[in-house]
Amino acid sequence: MSLAEFTSSLDTLLLAAEKSLGLVADDAGLEELRVLYTGAKNGQLKTIQKGMGVLSPVEKPAAGKKFNEVRDAVQAAIDSAAARIGSSATTGVTIGGTAAVSKKSGPQVDPTLPGLRPRLGRLHPITQTIEDLKEIMGRLGFSATEGPEIEDTWHNFVALNIPEDHPARDPLDNFYLATAGKNSSDPTALDAKLLRSQTSTVQIRAMETQQPPLRIISLGRVYRPDEADMTHFPMFHQMEGLWIDISVTMAQLKSVLRMFATSYLGGDVTIRFRPSFFPFTEPSVEVDYFWNDQWVEFGGAGMVDPNVLKAVGYDPEKVSGFAFGLGVERLCMRRYGITDIRDLFRSDVRFLRQF
Ligand code: PHE
Repeated sequence: MSLAEFTSSLDTLLLAAEKSLGLVADDAGLEELRVLYTGAKNGQLKTIQKGMGVLSPVEKPAAGKKFNEVRDAVQAAIDSAAARIGSSATTGVTIGGTAAVSKKSGPQVDPTLPGLRPRLGRLHPITQTIEDLKEIMGRLGFSATEGPEIEDTWHNFVALNIPEDHPARDPLDNFYLATAGKNSSDPTALDAKLLRSQTSTVQIRAMETQQPPLRIISLGRVYRPDEADMTHFPMFHQMEGLWIDISVTMAQLKSVLRMFATSYLGGDVTIRFRPSFFPFTEPSVEVDYFWNDQWVEFGGAGMVDPNVLKAVGYDPEKVSGFAFGLGVERLCMRRYGITDIRDLFRSDVRFLRQF
């Protein structure tokens, strides 16, 4: 048999089927025709389908497509004949495995079978971490605020006591933007704009608009042109904390960070404070936790430098405070046992679905 013969036998069958189904007048007649054309064993469609076997492989796709079209058309003719004569034959619904209607043809629906479960999305592990951190810090009385990711040099550097010649302002260490203002990508220009390199900017913004006492956190993205490797990525998230009041001490800073670490990482976590330097805190510390046999730095902290308090119009003789900045990815990675930061941002759902 050739493809042409195969096709024309299907056309002939369809013509005959449409004609006879158009004339059928009762259930019994319809059932007879249904068996004649679509019967599973000796129906005419079945017989023609068997002939497909001898066609060459190049002809088969076209033949299969044609076959499906005709089969669907025959079924449609059966359905409309059934509707015309008010037959129940094609609407047989099987309930609980028992045929509610004995004659079956056409698509069967079993409403007791489980459906196809839609795949649910979920929050990214970093978003989950941010929610957890806000919740823990909320219990310690810190309320969350936000600041812009595109910053000016006043908030990212100057008000934070980072002078013009400080290496932290180097264009090679920052993403300056060549947009607004003539000299905006010149790091010394007053209107220079950059992607913020730290969330400490939000300390300044909060103090500029509110009077002490102040107890805030701010969570968000920061940007540094770092080469991506297992522990670095050019974009990451920080949680900034700031507490200003009439007599806030270093002991309170250590207690807050220790309580935070045990709440988030578990009661068995070991953390340590190392002396360090940041232009905007004095004294300053670096905070590490112990994981996988090594110390992992998770942030910096210290007592807010009097110059910073002066920059926002506070009186350093009257108020004091502490600030800290923690890396969100490192906390998230330790919590979920993730060892490569890049996995968090590859957007591979097979990875992200696990959290
Ligand atoms: N902003 C610092 C950093 O990104 C961290 C820090 C915040 C240190 C607040 C001290 C106080 O490294």
